[in-house]
Amino acid sequence: MPAPSTQNVAKEATLSRRALSAGGEPITNALMARTLAQPDLISLAAGFVDYDTLPAEPVRKALEAVLSDPARARAALQYGTTVGYTPLREAILGRLLAADGCSAGAANPALDQVVLTAGSNQLLYLVGDVLLDPDDVVITGAPTYFVLLGVLANLGARAVGAETDADGLLPEAVEEQLQRLDAAGELDRVKAIYVTTYYDNPTGATVPAGRRAALVDVARRFSRKHKIYVIEDSAYRELRYDGEDVPSLRSFDPAGEVVIHTGTFSKSFSPGVRVGWGVLPPELVPPVLAAKGHWDFGSPNFNQHLMATVMELGIFDEHIEALRAGYRRKLGALLDAADAFLAPLGGIEWLRPRGGLYVWLRLPEGIDTGLDGPLFDRAVREGVLYVPGEHCFPPGSPGPVKNTIRLSHGIQSCESIRQAVEVLAVAIGRVLG
Ligand SMILES: Cc1ncc(COP(=O)(O)O)c(C=O)c1O
Repeated sequence: MPAPSTQNVAKEATLSRRALSAGGEPITNALMARTLAQPDLISLAAGFVDYDTLPAEPVRKALEAVLSDPARARAALQYGTTVGYTPLREAILGRLLAADGCSAGAANPALDQVVLTAGSNQLLYLVGDVLLDPDDVVITGAPTYFVLLGVLANLGARAVGAETDADGLLPEAVEEQLQRLDAAGELDRVKAIYVTTYYDNPTGATVPAGRRAALVDVARRFSRKHKIYVIEDSAYRELRYDGEDVPSLRSFDPAGEVVIHTGTFSKSFSPGVRVGWGVLPPELVPPVLAAKGHWDFGSPNFNQHLMATVMELGIFDEHIEALRAGYRRKLGALLDAADAFLAPLGGIEWLRPRGGLYVWLRLPEGIDTGLDGPLFDRAVREGVLYVPGEHCFPPGSPGPVKNTIRLSHGIQSCESIRQAVEVLAVAIGRVLG
């Protein structure tokens, strides 16, 4: 056996271009570091779900059902398939079609089009992986879900921002961007439009039915040489505290041609279980499954059996009701505190979402809410953490960037939410002078 070399091994790793372009997760890391350094900080930054309503007892019941039957237990403990556990895929598809008010028929997606993943973020990454070459374009809202911006950067793709308003992504703004890219000879590079249709992260906006149809229409009209997909992210659909449900954007694409629909149990049940899904146009199923096969050849089978049992026993619906009641109170506490403490400052605007986990603030022009700006530092010193809105905007976006804030009411109690908004208002007041 050759003796080990006594020469020094070079200390630097040669990372791939992809890893270098991803550039880590600066905002998440920076916020986490602040929270750890100052444990008494009230964080309205994290998109975590409420601790008190995490479904410990429902999960215990479902686990008992899975484990008390040895054959079922062993099936759950074995590897599963790449596409995911069929009874859960059936339950997800059935629920989606029931919510959208359609019965299974020729125009509805087939079970083959439902793919389970380890959270919907994995589905978003896989879709990006199979659709996007470096420099390809995804049109997103400005602002949008900031983790998606990281995924696109990691894939070397470009996010192009389109304007949003109180009803979410504007179809005419998407069309304008498509026309601009077409005029620049870049329509070939556009692969998808991404939109969170229910209680958006970060703005809380829900896209109305008419706009959903218009977004599908824009995608179809500009799908001249190749398809431009609409990625509908429905992560927050079940977190509805007020008002009626809206049929999914997918249901405005009845032939299932252009919409990639994603969903997750992370917000409606448990992010620790981390089961998400995609309903894909048929031609995307083989490449996504091939990519997933290389990645993990199936997301955790045990968790999929657990979720199938949760659905089968009716535990899910009971849990959703409890969850909605808790979050309704918290969102109410946040909006009441905004009325009490932010409104008197003048010049601050916010949406009043009817569900989800976020409230989006727009401060007077000229206030920099960023990590290096005066407000962030002051707010942290006074004891409250928020997400600076600029991280939610794709590069070169239209509209206000620096003077926005995302607040989340997920993990704090009503009392802490009120206290945090009061502290934030004092900090904003000081910065406004
Ligand atoms: C809009 C949106 N989509 C997707 C996800 C991903 O969730 P998960 O991967 O846990 O399903 C999140 C998580 O915060 C989100 O806010």
